[in-house]
Amino acid sequence: MKKELRRAVIAGNWKMNNTPSQAKALIEEMKPLVKDADCDVVLCVPFIDIPAAVEAAKGSNIKIGAENIHFKASGAYTGEISADMLKEAGVEYVVVGHSERRQYFAETDQTVNLRTLAAVNAGLKAIVCVGETLEQRELGYTETLLKYQTKMALTNVTKEQLKNIIIAYEPVWAIGTGVTATADQADEGNGFCRAAIAEAYGEDVAQTVTVQYGGSMNAKNAEELVAKVNVDGGLIGGASLKAEDFSIIVKAASK
Ligand code: PGA
Repeated sequence: MKKELRRAVIAGNWKMNNTPSQAKALIEEMKPLVKDADCDVVLCVPFIDIPAAVEAAKGSNIKIGAENIHFKASGAYTGEISADMLKEAGVEYVVVGHSERRQYFAETDQTVNLRTLAAVNAGLKAIVCVGETLEQRELGYTETLLKYQTKMALTNVTKEQLKNIIIAYEPVWAIGTGVTATADQADEGNGFCRAAIAEAYGEDVAQTVTVQYGGSMNAKNAEELVAKVNVDGGLIGGASLKAEDFSIIVKAASK
């Protein structure tokens, strides 16, 4: 295991929170708190907040991401947003296949793959989410499912494009529930994702891919989680809405 080969990334996922003015205020508050980070700092924000967020983050070490991307370049897809639109708006990262998209918006492993390809083909960095439900875990399918979801998401992604992929292991039962995976469970889940990458691209390549943990990561538990060899930072929901908490997580990943 070669943790030093990978850059830790702490990414906030605001979900459907914050108006543009609130986005600006929160980023202004965060900027001085995270400026010395020794990890990548990303905020994935609602589409409508992107211009305000990009403007507020200018000149800082905070990068802006979106929370979804459509796989077609343009066309009759009411309500969707393309890679070119995101690029022109100044977005660098995009969350793909979040469990809330899978659960509430009929996202499948196929559409996750198409959205991932759209992102990397446009030169965006994709934060690809995978994770098992509690039922799947209890049935003993965690490893099988994580490997399957990871490989499906990466279908037709080249070795070169893999440099722009971050995998986020997010056990569904830990998202927004306050129930965090133990550090060992997170390490194991991240390890299954990395093993799937190794099976598809080789061990050397797999060692260079950033694999985050997500699911109720907060100011209190972040240090223990990110210390694990397979945990290269986190995808943070609730705790990314508070500047102080988010900055503590960034500091934990900078050690
Ligand atoms: P949470 O969300 O930190 O609020 O559990 C994580 C996520 O959904 O990415």
